Amino acid sequence: MTNEIEKKPKIPENSMKITVSRNGPYIVTGGVPLIVSEIRSDEEGYCKDWLEVKRYPLKEQYSLCRCGKSENKPFCDGMHTKIHFDGTETGDYEPYIEGADTISGPVLTLLDNKHFCVHAGFCVRAGGTWKLVKRDDPDTRNIAIEETFNCPSGRLVIIDNTTGKAIEPEFEKSIVIVESTLLHEQGPLWVRGGIPIESADGKLYEIRNRVTLCRCGKSENKPFCDGSHIEG
Ligand code: FES
Repeated sequence: MTNEIEKKPKIPENSMKITVSRNGPYIVTGGVPLIVSEIRSDEEGYCKDWLEVKRYPLKEQYSLCRCGKSENKPFCDGMHTKIHFDGTETGDYEPYIEGADTISGPVLTLLDNKHFCVHAGFCVRAGGTWKLVKRDDPDTRNIAIEETFNCPSGRLVIIDNTTGKAIEPEFEKSIVIVESTLLHEQGPLWVRGGIPIESADGKLYEIRNRVTLCRCGKSENKPFCDGSHIEG
């Protein structure tokens, strides 16, 4: 298994891909940047933004642990075989929009698909995104957009009522290993920028700008994170 990242020339972004291996790691190909970021809180203790704390040297291919038991995290060290990891994928292929509730405001509309929640906690600051989108002043709108941009799983999506289009952050295509000293947890893998994710059966999941993948092995919605890492 690959356990170290070496420097390589820049690789075209369109070759990036994550393949879920059967009962094994995520095989990441195409030179996807790998970053560690922490969730930061405001003075009242609400999750507010992200701090990049580490960036691994770029490598064309590497394997990331998804069983949660590697002794060389975030990389796979083969432990999944020893523990007979059951990585059966139960996440569905239904498009995000099919399960989304709509919360309408005067300028913005919030889409909320609870199925994707990983309890990152950005959405509760300043009264919560659901209330913020119903108000009309620019400052409030900006906080609602900021909270949505920081929602790693993409549970929340903001639509601009004027254009009818989603307002999304422009991410560098990358995988972020989520850490939270605030919540004392090691969170999921945050896949940013619309990198294709393929199941062990060779089927593509819906490509989204913000997606979170399980890396503790406990999710009931594999390969996606369902917040189970928080329970212990
Ligand atoms: S998936 Fe290989 S050690 Fe965890």
